[in-house]
Amino acid sequence: MNTHFWKDLKRPILVLAPMAGYTESPFRRLIKEIEPSTVLISELISAEAMRRTNEKTLRMAEFTPDVKKYYCVQLFGNDQTAFIEAGKVVEKIGADGIDINLGCPSPKVIGSGHGSALLKDPESTARMIEALVASTKLPVL
Ligand SMILES: Cc1cc2nc3c(=O)[nH]c(=O)nc-3n(C[C@H](O)[C@H](O)[C@H](O)COP(=O)(O)O)c2cc1C
Repeated sequence: MNTHFWKDLKRPILVLAPMAGYTESPFRRLIKEIEPSTVLISELISAEAMRRTNEKTLRMAEFTPDVKKYYCVQLFGNDQTAFIEAGKVVEKIGADGIDINLGCPSPKVIGSGHGSALLKDPESTARMIEALVASTKLPVL
């Protein structure tokens, strides 16, 4: 059962938008210091690399306890098993949720069929997300 923390958040909800190359760990901590109610999201992180617990990737996702409540890892990819296994790693490191990148327009990301390329086939993307939701106890944003 996915316990969705959004329900308990005070309105309006403040979220740090994921920004590749910017919303890395020290930046996320800084934002939390400025406004503790902010929900933090990592930079986009490869589901394939996350499932393999690549060291550099784990460093991108790492967080300090003071940013918990709430911190979500954003995954990108296009493979259901990779998302499910990466989701397990996100659970294991203790993050509060999983965000899926469906919007990145960068040619490199689209070229690999990731990011906004997933929206070319909404039905199979929806099935992939449903499978991830069913496989994790974390909320999927
Ligand atoms: C430099 C940069 C990097 C970004 N990286 C990501 C990303 O990794 N994942 C994502 O979902 N969106 C990413 N975005 C999109 C932002 O999260 C946000 O949705 C976008 O900037 C629109 O918000 P705004 O109108 O407040 O600028 C990025 C945007 C910028 C400017």
